[in-house]
Amino acid sequence: MSMRATMQERMPLGEATAWKARALRELEAGRARLQAMLAPVPEVELMRQHSPLMSPLVWDVAHVANYEEQWLLRALGAPAFTDPAFDAIYDAFRHPRSTRSTLPLLEPEAAWAYATRVREAVRAHLEALPEEGADPLLAGGYVFGMVAQHEQQHAETLAATLQLMTHGEYNPVEPPRHQPGAVPQHEVLIPGGPVHLGGTEAWAYDNERPRHVVDVAPFLLDAHPVTTGDYLVFVESGGYEDPRWWDPRGFAWLQAEGIRHPLFWMPQGQHVWLRRRFSTVEPLPKDEPVQHVSWYEADAYARWAGKRLPTESEWEKAAQGSDGVARGHPWGNDAPTDAHANLGGTRWGPSPVGSHPLGRSADGVFGLVGDVWEWTSSDFQPYAGFRAFPYREYSEVFFGTESKVLRGGAWASAPVAVRNSFRNWDFPIRRQIFAGFRCARDVR
Ligand code: AVJ
Ligand code: FE
Repeated sequence: MSMRATMQERMPLGEATAWKARALRELEAGRARLQAMLAPVPEVELMRQHSPLMSPLVWDVAHVANYEEQWLLRALGAPAFTDPAFDAIYDAFRHPRSTRSTLPLLEPEAAWAYATRVREAVRAHLEALPEEGADPLLAGGYVFGMVAQHEQQHAETLAATLQLMTHGEYNPVEPPRHQPGAVPQHEVLIPGGPVHLGGTEAWAYDNERPRHVVDVAPFLLDAHPVTTGDYLVFVESGGYEDPRWWDPRGFAWLQAEGIRHPLFWMPQGQHVWLRRRFSTVEPLPKDEPVQHVSWYEADAYARWAGKRLPTESEWEKAAQGSDGVARGHPWGNDAPTDAHANLGGTRWGPSPVGSHPLGRSADGVFGLVGDVWEWTSSDFQPYAGFRAFPYREYSEVFFGTESKVLRGGAWASAPVAVRNSFRNWDFPIRRQIFAGFRCARDVR
């Protein structure tokens, strides 16, 4: 298939003419979020390396600007104005995260000024660009969607860094918590059959393509993610001491690290637990999806419960619904709102399960999108016929057996980067991300 044909398929009719307004709106939303998140953080904490797993916060700001300059200015024929040294400092592949505080980083004021200067040039350049043309980067405004999603993904990364930060305080303002009342966990039968995996939406990433059909056998899926209360039973019944439940590599990791419970839980002695969420220390929220668990912890819980993690095909089948109707989100094609899902970083944590009945899938599965990323059993591998677009380092270099796929987006994920076909990935030991899981089971 030629590149042109692929692009035709990327762009359903009607999206072609609307992309400029959407692009600008999404870029500005990302920038406003970054600024609001970092406004309360003192300079010294913006420059500090808070964890070997994360960049200094100020690195992300200038990295986002440099990425935007590369893709929305230089790649689209606009003149560059960067000091060429920036490209090296802010190239994620050049320097591991743990070494970035030793680089000659722009200080906060200069980093923001760089980001503002790039954005002003982008606004001017966008006006001059054709809505339609031969450049595949511009089909449906693809490259603008890529950059808007990138900035929002880094906003989520900043949230993870702020959660890891133990110098200073971070006390985000949050709306009142949902109070849905107790909702019982139950399982939903997802009938077997074909599922169309992947996205045709103009802004879907290369790793979501090509859209293709796979067959999924019938299976049972938990109606809600595993809650903190559910997970506490596993912890308190000695789950972390019993190798029967664990992948051997996971059990070795637990022992090497001395891990006995999810990240940010604080044991207080006999059956008393607290957790830290940013600068708040609070009782374990038993009705919320558990978060900050690694793939190994999710996998072990599922085995202990007599279940397993779903594959990513099963997850996407459940999100689409088994009735064959094409849906971009579990509830349909409407853009996500607060009524559908906990997304966008406004709540600073998951909501109790059952808080978003409007967001349930056609088969009655709740909370697939938002609250926590959901670990799946699948390795992050390319779909057959994958082609890297527009660069290998977004997806292709991460394919293999090292990373597991997560689906659905978390409370910190922006709607622009969340859809049924969206694939996230990370190593099975990672738990600073906002990840939880739900269980599945074969039908017998
Ligand atoms: C898709 C979330 C795994 O943060 O490593 C950001 C997104 N890629 N900059 C990551 C990304 C380049 C990526 N994840
Ligand atoms: Fe990046």
